[in-house]
Amino acid sequence: MIRVENIYKSFGEKSILCGVNLEVCSGQTFVIVGSSGVGKSIFLKTIVGLIKPESGIITIDGIDITKCIVSDLRKIQKKVGYVFQESALFDSLNVFENVAFGLRSLTNLSEEEIKNRVTKCLTMVGLKNVEHLKPANLSGGMKKRVAIARTISYKPNYILYDEPTTGLDPIMSDVISDLIISLKKYLNVSSVVVTHDMKSAYKIADRIMMLYEGRIIFSGTPEEVKNTDNEYVRQFVEGSSRGPMQQIDRTFKMG
Ligand SMILES: Nc1ncnc2c1ncn2[C@@H]1O[C@H](COP(=O)(O)OP(=O)(O)OP(=O)(O)O)[C@@H](O)[C@H]1O
Ligand SMILES: [Mg+2]
Repeated sequence: MIRVENIYKSFGEKSILCGVNLEVCSGQTFVIVGSSGVGKSIFLKTIVGLIKPESGIITIDGIDITKCIVSDLRKIQKKVGYVFQESALFDSLNVFENVAFGLRSLTNLSEEEIKNRVTKCLTMVGLKNVEHLKPANLSGGMKKRVAIARTISYKPNYILYDEPTTGLDPIMSDVISDLIISLKKYLNVSSVVVTHDMKSAYKIADRIMMLYEGRIIFSGTPEEVKNTDNEYVRQFVEGSSRGPMQQIDRTFKMG
């Protein structure tokens, strides 16, 4: 289980996370939504230990990653896969080496085992005969799938996805949503998914949470989100520029 308790994180004067709590139970998919810049990526990075919060506790399977020693953190990080917002593939490595990268650094598998595992993971994400291609020669959807293959290759118990469908066409977004559901079903992984894509959120989520001004201001099932009268959630879901979250000065002063 991942348990986040009362996390605070700021950059200089700017508070980003102000007491965030989250509990991800086994085999569940949690979706986090919220406006751009609200701190969703920062939150995921604190869960995986890439950013240290100023205060609060993050336990993964009972170990507090904000306090543990480096070797324990490495062990814990093996359990938590992270699919970066920009896929974060290594440009100079081909698809095979990108997927094999985690296996080489986190496991003691032989070359043959690595080859088998890479092929299996690429097949799971629906990619064939692309092992030799470099990231520059892949579409956005292919890059996302390679990034997911790289993450599942070392069999994490938890996967954190940062905007896995952003920038993809609606069909490819749905393919990625189905993939997230399949990974939950067949690998029994628990996931936290940050997304702006409400169609995907409704499809994959056991619970949807909304982050606003450093806190989770709403948490509910997809059905509860659809029926909520929380005006912040409604504005976000409806994608309206008018509502309590107005941030942009609409006074145009040209010339
Ligand atoms: N290393 C950093 N130093 C200072 N400020 C940072 C740093 N990283 C992020 N921030 C700020 O923290 C805020 C939250 O950033 P974050 O990337 O988590 O947003 P987000 O909710 O993921 O947005 P988006 O939906 O656009 O990806 C932003 O205002 C950003 O400028
Ligand atoms: Mg982000």
